[in-house]
Amino acid sequence: MIKEKEHFSLQSTRYQGSKRKLIPWMSTIFKDLEFENVLDVFGGTGVVSYLFKLMGKSVVYNDYLEFNHQIGISLIENQNVRLETKDINHLINNSKLDSGNQGFISSTFKNIYYKENENIWLDNVISKIHNLNSYDSKTLRYKKAIAFNALFQSCLVKRPFNLFHRNNLSIRTRRVQRTFGNKTTWERSFEDLFIRYTKEINDLVIHTKYKCEAICKPVSGLNSNGFDLVYLDPPYLNKDGKNETANYFDIYHFLEGITIYPDWSNNIDKGSKNLKLINYKENIFKKDNIYNVYDLMFDKFKNCIIVLSYKSDGLPSIQFLTNRLKQLGKNVRIKSLDYSYSLKKNNKDKRDREFIIIGV
Ligand SMILES: C[S@@+](CC[C@H](N)C(=O)[O-])C[C@H]1O[C@@H](n2cnc3c(N)ncnc32)[C@H](O)[C@@H]1O
Repeated sequence: MIKEKEHFSLQSTRYQGSKRKLIPWMSTIFKDLEFENVLDVFGGTGVVSYLFKLMGKSVVYNDYLEFNHQIGISLIENQNVRLETKDINHLINNSKLDSGNQGFISSTFKNIYYKENENIWLDNVISKIHNLNSYDSKTLRYKKAIAFNALFQSCLVKRPFNLFHRNNLSIRTRRVQRTFGNKTTWERSFEDLFIRYTKEINDLVIHTKYKCEAICKPVSGLNSNGFDLVYLDPPYLNKDGKNETANYFDIYHFLEGITIYPDWSNNIDKGSKNLKLINYKENIFKKDNIYNVYDLMFDKFKNCIIVLSYKSDGLPSIQFLTNRLKQLGKNVRIKSLDYSYSLKKNNKDKRDREFIIIGV
């Protein structure tokens, strides 16, 4: 069990919208609420689910993207499996590509996201993760998930802006004076990063006596049965509803592609400049239907305690959201915190306000 002001060991990650830095603050809020079974609807990096796990709750982690689901399996559902040194060595052993592997990334994504030698490394390791065997199916589920998680973190830190929304490898490779970015991390080898993240994940695997599970569904496919609290941290839409990074499928399509590696070639949107995955998971967080989406979500979870993360200047407004919760008979409280986001236009350290809206 965690204690107040205790140091939190959490997975390091560069994921858009991650609540990692807010976890100590959030823990003080959750500890004042009475609940045992919690659903984390928009799980992302899993840091909030991990907090619930540390608090001794029974947690269901959910995210509609399969790559995030793997992260949830590795750290939330997994109670005791680790990727051992022999597994790591097997995966990164730099032998020829497994038979049948055509080197899909190196032949398809030349000069788009990673350098050529990195693409070959990725092809090799990804096909080995998919082909891992020699364990029972349950152990394999967790070993593969740890390996995928470590690989995703390695992929993220080597990308400018930690995203895949643009064909911008040249930001990494151009010989220019840099005013931003992390050149040293970009140039660390995939192998070093993969080993480092695997160790970190292994150290974070914890066993609790409460059932924890990771699932992968759109919010529309979930129901509230069995939960006394739902935590909602949906994609952030700014006031004019135009931020291009609100669509998680689009900005992380490459990681999603890794999870369907054997079938990736059949799912490439060949008309897109940066060879995105065909978008088969609808983004419902758009200006034209955002109000309706919140109404449906709140109605679905109205019998649970609803805890909603909200960032200043978002759509809908905080007034709209609190009014809707009150209309459902909820007693509403709002907590807030000044918070600085580092990746702002012109790299200015703009201060945002982070809110937690609680409807009991
Ligand atoms: C703001 S992020 C959540 C961040 C997370 N709380 C954390 O701390 O890492 C929003 C998440 O919602 C997921 N998402 C987007 N649309 C979804 C949908 N319709 N159903 C379920 N998850 C969705 C995205 O994949 C993304 O990971």
